[in-house]
Amino acid sequence: MDFITQLAAALGAHCGMSEHELIETFTTPPDSKMGDFAFPCFKLAKSMKRPPPVIAQKLCAALETSGLPAFVERVESAGPYLNFFIRPARYASAVLDEIRQSGGRYGTANTGGGRNVCIDYSSINIAKPFHIGHLSSTVIGHALYRIFNHLGYHSVGINHLGDWGTQFGKLIVAYQKWGDEKAVNEGSVRVLLDLYVRYHEQAKTDAGLNDEARAWFKRIEDDDPEAIRLFNWFKELTLNDVGRVYDMLGITFDSYAGESFYNDKMDRVIEELKAKNLLKLDKGAYIVDLEEYNMPPCIVLRSDGATLYATRDLAAAIYRKETYDFAKSLYVVAYQQDLHFRQIFKVLELMGYEWARDCVHVSFGMVSVQDGTLSTRKGKVMFLEDVLNASVEKTIAIMQEKSAELENKKTAAKEVGVGALIWNTLYNSRIKDVVFSYDKALNFEGETGPYVQYTHARCCAVMRRAGAGDEIPAALDYEKLADEAAMRVVRALFAFPRAVRDAAEKYEPYIVSRAVMALCQAYNKFYYDCRIVGEEPALEKSRLALTAAVKTVLETGLYLLGLGAPARM
Ligand code: ARG
Repeated sequence: MDFITQLAAALGAHCGMSEHELIETFTTPPDSKMGDFAFPCFKLAKSMKRPPPVIAQKLCAALETSGLPAFVERVESAGPYLNFFIRPARYASAVLDEIRQSGGRYGTANTGGGRNVCIDYSSINIAKPFHIGHLSSTVIGHALYRIFNHLGYHSVGINHLGDWGTQFGKLIVAYQKWGDEKAVNEGSVRVLLDLYVRYHEQAKTDAGLNDEARAWFKRIEDDDPEAIRLFNWFKELTLNDVGRVYDMLGITFDSYAGESFYNDKMDRVIEELKAKNLLKLDKGAYIVDLEEYNMPPCIVLRSDGATLYATRDLAAAIYRKETYDFAKSLYVVAYQQDLHFRQIFKVLELMGYEWARDCVHVSFGMVSVQDGTLSTRKGKVMFLEDVLNASVEKTIAIMQEKSAELENKKTAAKEVGVGALIWNTLYNSRIKDVVFSYDKALNFEGETGPYVQYTHARCCAVMRRAGAGDEIPAALDYEKLADEAAMRVVRALFAFPRAVRDAAEKYEPYIVSRAVMALCQAYNKFYYDCRIVGEEPALEKSRLALTAAVKTVLETGLYLLGLGAPARM
């Protein structure tokens, strides 16, 4: 269905641009009145020594004389643009064929050639809550994980646990002074968090606490059995807690190698930095000077000999390259760590690692919750699990009203309630701050996850009503899909694979969610404008085929974004 490739080939005969560049230059006009594909002539102005509108006219005339591919109905020049109009039936048949043949994996490509992409995402901290701020990392990372797999890469999901640092010494002190085993086992991270807060309050007046904490952390470092037992217990409790959230989100990781995993892997990094003359002694600490690059120094060893977050990330980056030989290594982490990653990548580059340029910080903005339903006490963190559960509860209530007769409401409500949150996080470019509001996210008529899932369920319902199977029938009369309402759907389907590719290129899952939304809007318009079941057989069959194609692609789109696609809701 590579219309653009063929159009590029036809154009290539009349201008000096490479086929690749031609392909990249094609765009889709905002309005189909301007054609299905447009070629802007600006880039040719230099080589052809003419203003773009003149070039457009010349190319148009040249194409008309030399002949156009059979799928083209006509070509027009409009100002600096060449606009191509595709024969509707040809367009529809090409798109539906492609979806039929894709076996549920429409838009896949072998761009990755099986190479690994490491995706560091979610990366929660032990004994700290999985709060709403971690949602973006988790959800964006997971979507990228699936998108890269879809494009022939092999994604490696890494949860770089925050499981090292002096705070664990503090936590042990707090637990021993004020904790209670039963309460901790029951309340898990919520109780640990309270202990931690209490420690900080007390430490303001009791300076001795910090010495005790340091001593306990030293015992962890020295593998003292009691210290390790407590530390592992806290870790286990945290992983249990987050495990419930990951289950709800349908997420698994390939590796939980966290910060402590690198304890025995930093010496060689430090040796290597020394050998490469990159370390500088600065007031007892070892640093890599980055002044030349307008950055503060990257501290690698503190004056007391302790390693840092950055030291672990250097060791982790090298470990990942050696273990996975990645084509890319992504870090889905909030924008507050922009500087940290710029420093890490620069140090790797200075160490002579060419692959430093394959490391990408996929940064994102803040998430906050609008309706304060859950922000009980001011300043208190909001646990993601509570937000998810509340979203599911609210969905059940909505479904009670909207579809009282639905069986298995709970299962569908889980997919819809959780999906609403995921969608909300993935509907805008990463760097925008996200405000979450239950009412907006759960509005079945807004640009929301539930709206997309509802459209999918609607396709399922249409097909059930017609007694049609899941497959897209072949041997259709495609002329029956030549009307504007159906063609709008066809164009939206066509746009999907490119959206997946663009999303991977820019590390922006929202490009997929926008394409999915456009498809839903086009299909719902088609659904209202055109009768499907009960039309004369050839027309009914074509419209059902289109419905089946939409259903398939919505399923794929929802899957890539990490949402479920219930058949009824
Ligand atoms: N645990 C860190 C945090 O919550 C994020 C870790 C990100 N990954 C990394 N390799 N530094 O802020």
